[in-house]
Order: sequence, then C-alpha cells, then structure tokens
Amino acid sequence: MPFKTKTIIEPFRIKTVEPIRFTTREQRAAALRESHYNLFLIKAEDVLIDLLTDSGTGAMSAAQWGGMMQGDESYAGARSFFRFESSVRDVTGYKHIIPTHQGRAAERILFGTACRAGQIVPNNTHFDTTRANLEVLGVQALDLRCAEAAQPDLVAPFKGNIDLVALERCLEENAGRVPFAMITVTNNSGGGQPVSLANIRAASELCQRHGVPLILDCCRFAENAWFIKQREKGQAHRTPAEIAREMFGYAAGCTMSAKKDGLVNIGGFLALNDDALAARCRNNLILTEGFPTYGGLAGYDLEALAIGIKEVLDEDYLNYRIRSVEYLGEKLTAAGVPIVRPTGGHAVYIDARGMLPHIPQSEYPAWALSCALYLEGGVRSVEIGSVMFGRQPDGTEKPAPMELVRLAFPRRVYTQSHVDYLAEILLYVNSMKQRIRGVKLVEAPDQLRHFTVKVAPAHGSLLVD
Ligand code: F0G
Repeated sequence: MPFKTKTIIEPFRIKTVEPIRFTTREQRAAALRESHYNLFLIKAEDVLIDLLTDSGTGAMSAAQWGGMMQGDESYAGARSFFRFESSVRDVTGYKHIIPTHQGRAAERILFGTACRAGQIVPNNTHFDTTRANLEVLGVQALDLRCAEAAQPDLVAPFKGNIDLVALERCLEENAGRVPFAMITVTNNSGGGQPVSLANIRAASELCQRHGVPLILDCCRFAENAWFIKQREKGQAHRTPAEIAREMFGYAAGCTMSAKKDGLVNIGGFLALNDDALAARCRNNLILTEGFPTYGGLAGYDLEALAIGIKEVLDEDYLNYRIRSVEYLGEKLTAAGVPIVRPTGGHAVYIDARGMLPHIPQSEYPAWALSCALYLEGGVRSVEIGSVMFGRQPDGTEKPAPMELVRLAFPRRVYTQSHVDYLAEILLYVNSMKQRIRGVKLVEAPDQLRHFTVKVAPAHGSLLVD
C-alpha cells in the first residue's frame, strides 16, 4: 500500500496573488461606526479575511482565464453559448438551458412566469432571495425543514432534507395551489447541510403523484454530491458527477447561481425540461436579461462557466474544500464554541444564541457576534438570524428559528494558515464573549433588510469595557 498522508493539501499552486490589508483595531472600530454596524456596508479593503459569502468570490483557474480569451461576443448564437449549453446539459441532463446573470434572475424569471398570487411554494428552506422573489408576487414561501435541522448540535448526515410528511400534507391540503415544489442543495439557510438522494427521490415521487414539478435550487450541487458520496449507503464508489446527474434526474429543472458551484464570479442559469414553460421563460428573459443565448452575461462569462461547472466536480477539489470547513469546525467544537454540526459544505455556522445566552433574541445576538469578530480580527461574516429573517410579510416581527453567524469560505481562495488565523480569532472572541452586548435596528427597509439596515449598539457600546 502506498503511504497515505493525513494532511489534505490545497490541490492547486498559486499563480497570481492579491494582497490583503491589515488594519488596526482602532481603524476597525471606526469602520464599524461609519458603516452603521452593518458589515455589508464596510469597504472590502478594510476586511482581512472575507467570509461574507462564498458567492462570486472564488478564484478561477488558469483554464478558465484561458477560456475567457476565447469568448465569442456575438449578440446571437455565439459559440460560447453553445459551449456553455453543452457543458451544463452534460452536468444536469436538462433539455433547456437558459443563461442568467445570477441565481436570483433565474428565480425571478421562473417565478414570474410560473406563479400567481395566492399560491404556495414549499422548499426545505428558501434562501432569502428565493423567498423575496416569491413574496413580492404574493406567493407564500413555505419552509419544511426536517426535524433534525432544528437542533444545531445534533450530528446527523442529512440535516438538509425536506420534511416529507409535511410536504405531502402541503400538497394534499393545497391541491391546485402549488405551481412547483423546491429543494435547495445544499440547504444554505439551514447550515449548508446536504440533502440525501433518498430524500430527493422520495420528494420527487410525492410531487409526481400530485402532478407538481420539483425544481432544485442547485447552487451547491457538487458539494451536495460529495456529501452523498461520503455519507449515503451504496454511493461511495460513484463519482460526484454521476451522483449529481442522478439528483438532477429527480427534478423537472433547476435554478442555479453559478457564483457558487459554477466557480465563476458572475453567472447563473435556469434549466427546464418542459418545452412550453421554457419558451415562456425565454420570452420573460428577453424583457430584462437579454437574448436567450447570452442572458445578461458576456461571451467570456459563458466560457468561464462552461469550464467551472466541470472543474467543481473534481474529487480532490471537493475533498480539500469540505475538509477545510470541517477543520475549522473541529477546532471550534474542541474549544466549546457551539456550531451547527456536522459542518456544512461551504461554511461554518456559529450558534450565536448558544454562545451568547446573555443577549436576548430581540437584541440580535448573531449580528452582535459578527460585529465583534470584525472588530477583533478583521473577519467579515454574515448574520443568518432575526435581522435577515425576522420581518414577516405582514410587517410584524417574529424571531428566526436560529441565530447563526455564517463564516462562508470563498472557493480556492484561502489556505490553511488563513484558517488557523480564523480559529485563533474565534477562540479569542469566545474567551471574552461575556463582554459582547446586543444591538438594535435604527433604520430598516421592508424587504431584504440585512443588506442596508442601519444598526447601533443597544447599550451604548458593542463591548462592555
Ligand atoms: N439560492 C441559494 C441557496 C443561495 O445561496 C443564493 C445566494 C441564491 C439562491 C441566489 O443566487 O446571489 O446568484 O442571485 N446566496 C449567496 C449567499 C448570496 O451568500 O449565500 P445569486
């Protein structure tokens, strides 16, 4: 047997570097004040390690940059479109591939074409833009998380699963009112947790019995396929590409933000099997995104996507990626920091309610924690809690089921020493957590408020001196 190392190395070497900027604690305190304690409003150059999102923040490969030079910028029928179409069709198996500038455009086009006010769309958990794009049409976005998902520290293999009993009830009680059901892989808002093949298959059968199409929100399909390979019985011998193809086969189409598992900085698509629906979506696309062979993207973007969506299925890449996230999770768990377990595909989610029980939910503990992480270490994370999800469509306020801080890993960007630095900062903040205090909202828009909300410390300062 050849010697097998324990260390899983980054499966790439670095050809181009981008400096990151060190700041002082005083500079960061000022930046927080100036940006109204909203990390979305901070200048990126004031951030040392940026874990705000894994969306569009990845590093492209030499092959992708090379491919971009081959971009065909013809308005209609460009060669780059056909390369993109063939690559996406190869990965997904769907008949109609409609390019969009990012995931939410695919959502808006599908929902705007297929949904009417008064309908209801179930999902394991709707991402914020998915929910908003439905609600703006007067459609109810229903989250049907499986029971295990509600317990952050419960270790279970597929906490992203949709609750099949609840899905069946929803389909029975709302016959004629469900235009399609959705499953998000991996379940981003639920902790980046995977969905099993068995769960997708069962949901697909239920939907078929009720004559309702199933649509995958497949931003992180490759990460989901990797978890299936690792955790689902009988899947270990298959390639991520084979598993992904089976996942897609259970659905009638997908919405995709290629800024995640497309390994590109911008791009997305809507893929469908239904000819009539696809034709209506294409017409809708022309209104706002562009002609159906570019959909708001440049020819070079389509080239990068055609290459990225294949590269992402590489096993060495997926192994390194999932392991980096798990590595940080292990260090936090060993130090007693409560996180959503097991760690998900693209991010570590800290359970801020568990970590900061002294901050009431009405004072947004996860938001306060994300500010403290920036102040102490220049680390940018994102709150997935009551600031993001607390406002109800009728204008009332209801606490979110969990108060999480997400540390999302850009793809192929940071190395192990960056992760070790992160762990040190997180452990330091954990050691002084009693000093962190809650925050209040000062000015908030009605929809997607976390992006622009102005926040202030609820008790004069973020930390007790
Ligand atoms: N669906 C899921 C599950 C997502 O995570 C996202 C984006 C979208 C749809 C929308 O895609 O941004 O390309 O329009 N998530 C990013 C994040 C923004 O940080 O999790 P988009």
